[in-house]
Amino acid sequence: MKTVLIGYMGSGKSSIGKLFAKKNNLYFIDLDTYIEQKENMSITEIFNNKGEIYFRKKEHTYLKEILDSKQEFILALGGGTPCYTGNMELLLTQNITTVYLKASINTIVQRLTNEKSERPLVARLNADDLHEFIAKHLFERNYFYNKAKYKITVDAKKVTDIVTELALLLG
Ligand code: S3P
Repeated sequence: MKTVLIGYMGSGKSSIGKLFAKKNNLYFIDLDTYIEQKENMSITEIFNNKGEIYFRKKEHTYLKEILDSKQEFILALGGGTPCYTGNMELLLTQNITTVYLKASINTIVQRLTNEKSERPLVARLNADDLHEFIAKHLFERNYFYNKAKYKITVDAKKVTDIVTELALLLG
């Protein structure tokens, strides 16, 4: 089975994917880490040195590379991946299980406040601007996220409980 986790920055895609893979003896791939290894640069360096358009092109290329591989996996996308270059449509036309990890604006603001430095899209925003940015951005992105086959609300839940919920969902 090929499973893909989608959701906004800070929704827990990587930590949930990693634990789920460990418990179920699956291969875990984090798309951002994959891009960083292939490009030999951090996501921040890619944004700063090459720009967002370059990043989105690479994100699409490497997503396709992973999807084309024969093996089974659980893949955590970047927050923006489903929203660019036809990526969500690509996922929906293949035999892939898509799961949206849905976090509220407040949960995301809380989490990103402490972890925004390595996220170039929000790194320079102050507390007030961060809230407004996320509210608008999430509204736009929900159009794509809501196309996922399954949805799990993650607010106030422990990673272990979400992993159990995911296992039940995927059977
Ligand atoms: C992005 C999210 C990041 C990373 C890049 C752009 C976005 O991934 O791909 O900074 O557009 O939301 P995470 O969702 O893993 O933080």
